[in-house]
Amino acid sequence: MPREEIWTEKYRPKKLDEVAGQSHIISNIKSYVRKKNLPHLIFSGPAGVGKTAAAVAMTHELFGDTWAENFTELNASDERGIEVVRNKIKNFARTMPTGDSAFKIIFLDEADALTDAAQSALRRTMERYSSTCRFVLSCNFSSKIIDPIQSRCSVYRFKSLSYDALKARILYIADKEGLTLSEDTVHALNYISMGDMRRAINALQSAAVLSKEIKPGMIYEITATARPEEIEALIKEALTGNFFAALAMLDEMMEKGISGDEILAQMHRRVINMDISARQKVELMDRIGEADYRITEGANERIQLDALIASLCLASDERVK
Ligand SMILES: Nc1ncnc2c1ncn2[C@@H]1O[C@H](COP(=O)(O)OP(=O)(O)OP(=O)(O)O)[C@@H](O)[C@H]1O
Ligand SMILES: [Mg+2]
Repeated sequence: MPREEIWTEKYRPKKLDEVAGQSHIISNIKSYVRKKNLPHLIFSGPAGVGKTAAAVAMTHELFGDTWAENFTELNASDERGIEVVRNKIKNFARTMPTGDSAFKIIFLDEADALTDAAQSALRRTMERYSSTCRFVLSCNFSSKIIDPIQSRCSVYRFKSLSYDALKARILYIADKEGLTLSEDTVHALNYISMGDMRRAINALQSAAVLSKEIKPGMIYEITATARPEEIEALIKEALTGNFFAALAMLDEMMEKGISGDEILAQMHRRVINMDISARQKVELMDRIGEADYRITEGANERIQLDALIASLCLASDERVK
C-alpha cells in the first residue's frame, strides 16, 4: 500500500478562499492580489492557524504558473545566521522576477528565530531590493522582530481559529475522505486543538486509520487528552471533599497515558466555565497556579496533583464549618 500523504499538506489551501477564518486578513490580501501589488508583510500568531497557508495561497493567486520561480521559502530557525541574509536572500532578491510580475516574494518562516544581527542585515536588504522583491515574514511573536523591520511592514495578527472556522474545514476534509463524524466529534477536535487547525487535522487523520466513523472518544484517546467532562467531575469531587473518589479518577486518567501537566493544564482551561461560585474559582486558580509553578521548578507531578486535590478537599471542609 502506498504511504498516505499527510493531510495537512494534502489539504493545504491552494486558494485564498480555502483559508478558513482570518476573514479580515484574507480580504486585505485579496485586494493586494487584485492590485498586483503588496507591501512587505509580517504574519504573526499561534501555530497552525494559516500563516504559511495564506502566504502560499496568495503567491499562487498572484503568479499563477510562474509561482515557483517567483517565490522562495526559507526557514529562519534552520538557518538563522547573518550568512543566510547575506547569501541566500540577496541572491534570490537581486535576480529579476519572471513572467509579467513586477516583484518576487521571499517567505521567511519563523522569522522571530533570526538573530538581531541577521535582522539588522535584513532591513538593509529589504530596502535595497524593494523594487523587485517583497518580504513576507512569519512568526509566533511579532515582538521578537526588531522595530525597524516592523515599521517597514504591514503587520497582520492571525488568531486561533473559531469553532465555526474549524468546523467548516474539518467537515470539508471529512467529506473528501468519506468519513462520518457528529457534532460531538467536531467539539472534541475543537477542544483538543485549541484553535490550531494543524493539530485538528492531524488528530482526524490518526483517527481515520481506525475507522471511517470518527467518535469523540477516539479523538481524546489519540491525543492523550482527558474529556472535559472527566476533568470537571474530578474537580467537583475534590471540591465536595471526596478525596479518595477524586484520586481514583486521577489514577484512571493517568493510566490512559494522560500526563500530569496535561491534566493540570486542562483543569486550568475548565475552571472558568464551570458552574461553581466565583470564590471557588478563585481558590482553584490560585492552587492550580501553585502546583504548576512547583512542577515547572522540578517537583514531582503526581505528588503535586494529589496535594492540589487534598487542598481543595480541605477548602471544602472549611466552607462547611
Ligand atoms: N486557516 C486555515 N484554513 C485552512 N487550513 C488551515 C488553516 N490553518 C491551518 N490550516 C491547515 O494546517 C496546515 C498548517 O497551517 P500553516 O502552515 O498555515 O500554519 P502556520 O500558521 O504557518 O503555523 P506555524 O506557526 O506552525 O508555522 C495547513 O497546511 C492547512 O492544512
Ligand atoms: Mg508556518
